[in-house]
Amino acid sequence: MKQDKLFDNPQQVVDFAFDDAVADVFSDMIRRSVPGYETIISLLGVLAQQYAQPNTNVYDLGSSLGAATLSMHRQTRTLDLKHICVDNSEAMIKRCQSRLARHMPDADLQIICENIEDTEINNASLVVINFTLQFLSPESRLALLTKIYDSLLPNGVLVLSEKLIFEDKDENQRQTDWHLTFKSANGYSDLEISQKRTAIENVMIPDSLEAHQLRLQQAGFKESYQWFQAFNFASLIAIKK
Ligand SMILES: C[S@@+](CC[C@H](N)C(=O)[O-])C[C@H]1O[C@@H](n2cnc3c(N)ncnc32)[C@H](O)[C@@H]1O
Repeated sequence: MKQDKLFDNPQQVVDFAFDDAVADVFSDMIRRSVPGYETIISLLGVLAQQYAQPNTNVYDLGSSLGAATLSMHRQTRTLDLKHICVDNSEAMIKRCQSRLARHMPDADLQIICENIEDTEINNASLVVINFTLQFLSPESRLALLTKIYDSLLPNGVLVLSEKLIFEDKDENQRQTDWHLTFKSANGYSDLEISQKRTAIENVMIPDSLEAHQLRLQQAGFKESYQWFQAFNFASLIAIKK
């Protein structure tokens, strides 16, 4: 795994993009930046085992290198699923294609380079959006979740993981501090942390847990639960009745 050193030199910081340089170090970057990432990836396999329905489609929206799809495939080999990975970064999609072809050659797999707002969702029992909704403009998020709700099969499931902000100012500060300590414990310097924050603050806009829960309800989901949290990163599951 190539080490993320993208922000270790003083630089004129520009808006963060999922380009070739990021895609090259992405596995290392996300593991060292998102507390609980590897646990979520592994438990997505367990959730897929529970909720993926035979002969249906499983969508990984904002798939990056396909880590979630690979984990879900490993736990559902006998279900005759079609796995569909979607990402609008060509750099990510070409690496996702070659990685998944290597690691799940027997799978029915479609890899699409497009905006997930344009993705047609059919015959879906499980849709995963792992740390990607936060990159869409806030005003377009409800439309995407509504499309997913409307397209899911009965008993279909959406898993949504996001960075959170907290409505209580003191809690927000504490959670932010814990996250910064996590990054520092994983070897990122103060310079790397501060330059990355500047790069990403205009392109990634997190919501509170309450905003996510309300939006899921507005999209049509009557049942949703928070099933995971590590500091200011969380995952929700929403079930279509
Ligand atoms: C933090 S990464 C997601 C990580 C990935 N889901 C995983 O579990 O490893 C966000 C990804 O979403 C993609 N992305 C952001 N906005 C998008 C959009 N509107 N449509 C499609 N992909 C998008 C980015 O290119 C990037 O690969």
